[in-house]
Amino acid sequence: MTVKIAPSILSADFARLGEEVRAVDAAGADYIHVDVMDGHFVPNITIGPAVVKALRPHSRKIFDVHLMIEPVDPYIPAFAEAGSDIITVHAEAGPHLDRSLQLVKGLGKRAGVSLNPSTPPEAIAYVLDKVDLVLVMTVNPGFGGQSFLRGQLAKIAALKRMIGARPIELEVDGGITPATAAECVAAGAGVLVAGTAVFGSPDYADNMKALRGGK
Ligand code: DX5
Ligand code: ZN
Repeated sequence: MTVKIAPSILSADFARLGEEVRAVDAAGADYIHVDVMDGHFVPNITIGPAVVKALRPHSRKIFDVHLMIEPVDPYIPAFAEAGSDIITVHAEAGPHLDRSLQLVKGLGKRAGVSLNPSTPPEAIAYVLDKVDLVLVMTVNPGFGGQSFLRGQLAKIAALKRMIGARPIELEVDGGITPATAAECVAAGAGVLVAGTAVFGSPDYADNMKALRGGK
């Protein structure tokens, strides 16, 4: 099974986001990872639904929208309307994760749940049957270019076991390079989010090939 690459546009040129999405799509991206930050749940502010809507016509690839916002429920419809395909909420973003996931599914979107580094896999045991994707943060969310937290490898393996035969994608996010990518795939990850490793040098196709182990 070939690993999927989800370039994070947080590391792209924000002055040319449409062009960058077209370029990374053409270079072989499987998903377009969109990091939404509110300056409250995480100490950074990025983009909102209007930018997702503006980017939508530039690519037919899956828009993998990572909501690092709190509260999250009030904004889920707008991100769905803007053209998100996967809407990922954080288990830590509020007291009613099950309701948030039902809201995403009710809007006909694929539901993802993300775990910050300190959150144990058990936190999502009772919502596993409502999600299409689990996103393991391998950095503390908020910024690109951080170092990979190796302790998360055990969590990736634990989640792989918990997921079992369910049709759930296991995605990792943060500090993913060709070296850490191989370790994450070995632990069970099937989708790799990468910002710096893709947008950090001009040949996006080559950069993604390196993340796939040269394939
Ligand atoms: C961090 C974001 C990640 C980040 C990854 O809060 O969720 O998606 O953009 O960037 P790199 O790959 O540079 O660590
Ligand atoms: Zn992300």
